[in-house]
Amino acid sequence: MIREEFALSEWHGPFDAATQARALAALEKGQVLYFPGLAFPLGENEREFLDPALTDGKAKNISLNHTTGKLQGTSAAGEKAERLAAMIERFGAGATRLVEDLLPGYAGLERARTSYRPVEVEDRPYSVIQDDRLLHIDAFPSRPMQAGRRILRFFSNVAPSGSRCWEVGEPFEDFARRFAPRVKPHLPGQSWLFARLGVTRGQRSAYDETMLSLHDAAKRDSRYQKNAPHTALDFPPGSSWLVYTDQVLHAALKGEFALEQTFHLDIAKMAEPQRAPIKVLERLTGRRLA
Ligand code: SIN
Ligand code: FE
Repeated sequence: MIREEFALSEWHGPFDAATQARALAALEKGQVLYFPGLAFPLGENEREFLDPALTDGKAKNISLNHTTGKLQGTSAAGEKAERLAAMIERFGAGATRLVEDLLPGYAGLERARTSYRPVEVEDRPYSVIQDDRLLHIDAFPSRPMQAGRRILRFFSNVAPSGSRCWEVGEPFEDFARRFAPRVKPHLPGQSWLFARLGVTRGQRSAYDETMLSLHDAAKRDSRYQKNAPHTALDFPPGSSWLVYTDQVLHAALKGEFALEQTFHLDIAKMAEPQRAPIKVLERLTGRRLA
């Protein structure tokens, strides 16, 4: 099963050891942890945020940097922007508490950006590389993961109606084996330059270059997109899910109004670091990637 279900309805523990162990093993194996009864409730005065016009029309998402409190990508201003930020912050804090209680071994994981995605996924125009309706693994051009730091994401569907519809693909190792021959060589000079110019926050490693290459190659391969193994996963309103998006091939086909919290984790904190994409890629290529 690609989706491992948990019957939670509260945004915190305590959780018994068996539940914690099941969550950890499933997540690191590349399954999606699914919380069908874990809804993020909107307050009465937050229902006005169920409005796609809340974005600034340029960015895909509205995002909150919780350390600075800075809200980006929204047309909302003043008091309305403050209330929007408070809603996104309440979600981010809740998701963080839940992940920490469910996965105690990940204590100290980095809470990165929190996003609100009010725009219908199906309708937006995208370039191929930006199109998350195509199967891909996540790799951020401007945020290097260097020695293989993980990208872990928690989502809630807050839409009043309509599922968020995903597809997930084949296991990471099968995908990597298929695309490895197409990975572009790492150019250390270019990584250094990008960091110097501020294009990237820190220097890209060979691992970062490899993951970006895999992301782009998968999206550009229309035969792969058509014929690759995939499983449909629907997340109804009022449900939440947690997934390593650097490992699980995924495509978001349809849905509006989702909240998302990104986390980063050093692979040393994993129960089974050998399952991390960097370790899989190093085994496959016989090269050190960081
Ligand atoms: C993605 O990470 O590809 C998009 C997921 C989503 O917005 O549902
Ligand atoms: Fe993605």
